[in-house]
Amino acid sequence: MSAKYEPQGTVAVITLDNPPVNGLGYATRVAVAEGVEKANADAAIAAIVITGGGKAFSGGADIREFGSPKATMEPNLLSLIKVLEASSKPIVAAVNGVCMGGGLELALGCHFRVAAPGVAVALPEVKIGLIPGAGGTQRLPRVLGVETALNVIVSGEPVKSEMLAAVPGQKLFDQIIEGDLLPAAVAYAAAKGSEYAGKAATLPLVRNLKVSHPNPDAYFQFARNMVKGMAKNFPAPAKCVDAVEVALKRKFDDGMVYERETFMALMMTPECKALRHAFLAERAASKIPDVPEDTPQRSIAKVAVIGAGTMGGGISMNFLNAGLPVTMLETKQEALDRGVATIRKNYEAQVKKGKLKQDKLDARMALLKPTLSYADVADADLVIEAVFEEMGVKEAVFKTLDEVVKPGAILASNTSTLDVDQIASFTKRPQDVVGLHFFSPANVMKLLEVVRGKATAKDVLATVMATAKKIKKTAVVSGVCDGFIGNRMIEQYSRQAGFLLEEGCTPEQVDKAVEKFGFAMGPFRMGDLAGNDIGWAIRKRRYVEKPGMRYSKTADLLCEMGRYGQKTGAGWYDYVAGKRDARPSAAVVKMIEDHRAALGVTARKISDDEIVHRLVYALVNEGAKIVEEGIASRASDIDMVYLTGYGFPLHRGGPMCYADTVGLFNVVQTMKKFAANPLDDASFWQPAPLLARLAAEGKSFT
Ligand code: NAI
Repeated sequence: MSAKYEPQGTVAVITLDNPPVNGLGYATRVAVAEGVEKANADAAIAAIVITGGGKAFSGGADIREFGSPKATMEPNLLSLIKVLEASSKPIVAAVNGVCMGGGLELALGCHFRVAAPGVAVALPEVKIGLIPGAGGTQRLPRVLGVETALNVIVSGEPVKSEMLAAVPGQKLFDQIIEGDLLPAAVAYAAAKGSEYAGKAATLPLVRNLKVSHPNPDAYFQFARNMVKGMAKNFPAPAKCVDAVEVALKRKFDDGMVYERETFMALMMTPECKALRHAFLAERAASKIPDVPEDTPQRSIAKVAVIGAGTMGGGISMNFLNAGLPVTMLETKQEALDRGVATIRKNYEAQVKKGKLKQDKLDARMALLKPTLSYADVADADLVIEAVFEEMGVKEAVFKTLDEVVKPGAILASNTSTLDVDQIASFTKRPQDVVGLHFFSPANVMKLLEVVRGKATAKDVLATVMATAKKIKKTAVVSGVCDGFIGNRMIEQYSRQAGFLLEEGCTPEQVDKAVEKFGFAMGPFRMGDLAGNDIGWAIRKRRYVEKPGMRYSKTADLLCEMGRYGQKTGAGWYDYVAGKRDARPSAAVVKMIEDHRAALGVTARKISDDEIVHRLVYALVNEGAKIVEEGIASRASDIDMVYLTGYGFPLHRGGPMCYADTVGLFNVVQTMKKFAANPLDDASFWQPAPLLARLAAEGKSFT
């Protein structure tokens, strides 16, 4: 049973009971329909209240039913709303906590609505590439007016119930009830029961309300322009505008048909599939297959960060923002002062932009304790090391931490390339050691790779996953390997970018093609931003470790010219001091041409399609290996890494989702073509066994 039925005097109370958010799954829909029928058949009942058990009225569709037949089994939400509208006894929605998506559409199908203050009200369908599909686009304008309704629908953002109740002329909420919602709603329903006894035909229905606008054509033109700028890669926002216009200009039932058809058509678009994939992938990433959800967690009330450089400062800000005290440790006063000053400067910039209040800045800085003494980090619950990327330095730090920090504390390293198991072995408590790989700038980037060492304890993993949520990061677990998930893949992507230069591209041509595909930044602009010297250092190591692996020499030649990127004013592009725009460099083009000549390669014209697919399929093939080796728990984790840490276009859902959209058979065929290119790396393009197997079986990654 996922809705309870309880008569209270003359009122039947139907309480949605499908934790955690009363999703409108099949069993809940059936129970509500049965409850309404039962109340209508009972002569002792005069009215009905529908409310939500626990903290929510309803969060909308039950995401656990996505993709299963139960999601559409009758009564679907449209049919259930028809049942509500047909009730001969008044139905009052008593809206509590959260009222979103289908939950709001259900409430709009009731005759009356009363709400607690502070309820989060939203139609978030646009966020998964859809428009509301159970009357939301047709009913909401009838109760809130065209403009407010469209804002709610097109933004998908929650608005507080009392704010909506304050919209002039609104008919969404008949009352905002301070204090106990349910008894007040029951009393309200009882009164309506008496008022409408024997007058069922006059019960108010949202569908019968008039909707108007003083200047509709100009308004919808304006709305379309706004939406076009906001959501260039997604069709749904523009369809929200169309649907609300239909609500204004056509009959209600025609509008419902339009909404349904548009909803179904959007459902089939690759953009919608990508967004739904990303939505589910984010939830999946927070689960670790062998770490149960009820694994006990350690308490994290005090954090220490070792190293106050680029990463240490950014990492500290995350915890300060979440209200956790941070002790930041350095070896020298000067480095410590610089680290603190950078944090303050970052916050001050936010204050200047109006994004942060001065008192918040003061409160956050007050939580920061700079120190040169390890005694001050001894009582930290979580220590994150972000010192130089050298094993010797890390060894010294972890040995000291092992000596001074209290037992049970979590010891984390932000290393981007070093072996976390080796780092753990410097301590006598490897079970407490974990990698927490933040991305730069660490206070901005959403991604956090949680690197699970072979000894890392399950409660440590459970704790850092929960902590990641607290600091608003998207955590993805990676096993230990060189580069973990993200950087191991980007190395193959960068190799392809280098080969493309040797075969005939300019950096600008490659970047433009990739940016047109939707990446935030092409590989060469990204190199200039991150610093080309970082990749250079990694390649020097590779030349020793993997002498058989071929790289284009162009990136080394660039570094030999001292062109490290934005920080040296020159990289793959030229930069003017104080500006970030990349200008094509004649010197770099000449370097590439000379190198080509030295190799005896004649430049050929390379299509954007080839550029994009060589780069993206390089990610896909390496990603497949990462899944097969168990470094990632699932293919969708790889997509989360790329969507949140590497600027992969959201409307394509991540590299693995994109490969699925193209079809793995087609991906393999294209790889075979790349393997036949004598200037490329034929061995790399052998499809990873997992990819080959899935392609042969007609299956997909996600
Ligand atoms: P950084 O050079 O900006 O900062 C390192 C800081 O550590 C310096 O302030 C230095 O004084 C301090 N330090 C060195 N030895 C120390 C010790 N024994 N005790 C205390 N402090 C010490 O370097 P960055 O970029 O912040 O990198 C730090 C770590 O983060 C490295 O492991 C790096 O691989 C990793 N990382 C860096 C990323 C980046 O984009 N910069 C991204 C992700 C990880």
